[in-house]
Amino acid sequence: MLRRVPWRGVFSVLAVLATLMVLTSCASGEEFPQTTIDPAGEAAEEIQSVYTLVWWLSAVVFVLVEGALIFILFRYRGGKKRPNERPAPIHGNVRLEIIWTIIPAIILVVILVPTLRGIVTLSETKTGPDVFRVDVYGQQFFWQFEYPDLIKPDGTPVVTTGTMNIPVDRRVEIRLHSRDVIHSFWVPRLAGKTDVVPGNVNHMWLEADTAGTYQGQCAEFCGLSHANMRFQVNAMAADQFNQWMNSQVSASNASGGGGGETDLVAQGKQIVETVCSACHTVAGTSANGTVGPELSHFTTIPTIAGVLENNKENLRKWLENPPAVKPGTAMPNLNLSQEQIDALVAYLYTLK
Ligand code: CUA
Repeated sequence: MLRRVPWRGVFSVLAVLATLMVLTSCASGEEFPQTTIDPAGEAAEEIQSVYTLVWWLSAVVFVLVEGALIFILFRYRGGKKRPNERPAPIHGNVRLEIIWTIIPAIILVVILVPTLRGIVTLSETKTGPDVFRVDVYGQQFFWQFEYPDLIKPDGTPVVTTGTMNIPVDRRVEIRLHSRDVIHSFWVPRLAGKTDVVPGNVNHMWLEADTAGTYQGQCAEFCGLSHANMRFQVNAMAADQFNQWMNSQVSASNASGGGGGETDLVAQGKQIVETVCSACHTVAGTSANGTVGPELSHFTTIPTIAGVLENNKENLRKWLENPPAVKPGTAMPNLNLSQEQIDALVAYLYTLK
């Protein structure tokens, strides 16, 4: 009676398997900078090990269950030989029911053990000389990084915007602070997500195995430019990192401008001290606002406002009308004249 070949089932199985193969074969970190399945550090590997285990267990269960289903569909289908055959009306099978209760329970225990181990490992706080500490500040819509162990001559910690600089192969202990709403700090190749909650300091750690740049992203909807709230983690080899630290804490480099200013640069500095100072800080000037990103090392910030590549053309575009570039930004259109923009561009690019 029933003689349908389960082609739909067969095709569904093949389609799912093909999709999984495609997804798992092409997710390298170079090609997909925000992939979670190409971990580059211990914390991310801890998460990935649980994911891999669950993936393979699921794959085995999937193949067995779908295989049994397809087998039964073929084996017990109707046909010319058995036109009106009906199955015997049986009910209950204690042995079968015990087996299919115990097997999933065992699978869940197998998943539970490494999951608990991962939770404990990832929530541990470490201290000591090997640990590098960073205070991360999330704010609509950018990230600022303060290094409590790197103190400048004026007694304040070194600050970077948009890029978190860390040494390679060293544990980085991170304290997460929010200056407004809930954000979520996420560097997919280095660690899991952790919420950044106003009024509460959250903790996490990460470690990078190899030097390089890792993409980060705010992972909690926080307003219009949530998707633009990106950042980078720059993991440096020990000597390169020491060089960076020294350049940051040395007095000569802590301020922008310096001697030999052109008129345009001097004019730009004056605009920064009068107009921009309400929101931005530039070391060595009277600009000390904290609403917006610190600009002391403007040229080292990888992006403008986290949205545009940092170059002169994009800086002009930004200054002409910030909300047009980044919806929801706290920086209003200041209606700067072309001359003012020229001066600001000239000055900001002297900030190394
Ligand atoms: Cu910050 Cu989304």
